[in-house]
Amino acid sequence: MKLGLEGKKALITGGSSGMGEAATRLFIEEGVDVAINYSRNDERAKNLLSQLKGKKGKAILVKGDVGEYKEVERIVKEVMDKFGRIDILVHCAGIAQPKEDTPENWDRVMKVHLYSCYYLGKLVSPIMINQKSGKIIIISSIAAHTCGDNAYCVAMAGKICYAKGLAKKLAPYNINVNTISPGTIFTPMLDPFIPPEKRREFTEKNIPLYKNKEGYPEGMEIGKVILFLASDLANHITGEDIKVDGGQFIHY
Ligand SMILES: NC(=O)c1ccc[n+]([C@@H]2O[C@H](COP(=O)([O-])OP(=O)(O)OC[C@H]3O[C@@H](n4cnc5c(N)ncnc54)[C@H](OP(=O)(O)O)[C@@H]3O)[C@@H](O)[C@H]2O)c1
Repeated sequence: MKLGLEGKKALITGGSSGMGEAATRLFIEEGVDVAINYSRNDERAKNLLSQLKGKKGKAILVKGDVGEYKEVERIVKEVMDKFGRIDILVHCAGIAQPKEDTPENWDRVMKVHLYSCYYLGKLVSPIMINQKSGKIIIISSIAAHTCGDNAYCVAMAGKICYAKGLAKKLAPYNINVNTISPGTIFTPMLDPFIPPEKRREFTEKNIPLYKNKEGYPEGMEIGKVILFLASDLANHITGEDIKVDGGQFIHY
């Protein structure tokens, strides 16, 4: 069976790094045109764009902060101006839980992770309803399931709740909405917490599927599941949350 992705148009928030970058690379190989959103690191985004030149799908950069409604309005408009439609929305943009527990930090994490889902959902839904099809994939975390009293855990749990509600609303329009809850994935986000020389030790201890396997989980483990959920193979899945963690959650 074919994936049914060729010629589709995707917006990937946080598409310049980690899991989002993995999804970008896989989509481009399948002939999907990808709008890569990011907010700060121009050099990283431009470097990725230059690596994608001449591939099957076309990539463009759309810089902007998903934690601000006006910015998301502009991002979506820019994608529509360039692509004319949005078939797939992948929401990977995110920041780690800041060290300090302050109201300002709580606010920021909530905006970037949770409010952004609402902003994107509100603005992209009418486009997909009009097209009578679409796939929305939101990245949550096993932190949503292990729980904690910090903004990151609460926002991640909120993402799943929001996505299920949106899935219910959009199902009659042939639009699927799902979340992925990754376990520990060694992307740039994790470097300040688990430095490269500690990756293997952490992996052996915490991720059962990697106990007798070389290496450690990287963004591509999630990119593959994003590709699956965006494809025709997942046409009958909606309102689901899929843990992709190498058994980390059942191990705890
Ligand atoms: N890594 C893990 O172990 C893990 C586990 C579970 C869940 N997650 C979640 O998975 C998602 C992807 O994380 P990752 O590990 O792939 O992180 P990453 O490698 O740090 O990538 C994060 C991406 O988000 C972009 N970004 C950050 N803030 C943004 C904003 N306000 N507006 C737009 N773009 C923004 C970054 O670009 P700029 O830096 O240029 O802004 C970058 O492209 C996040 O939601 C993260 O919380 C991660």
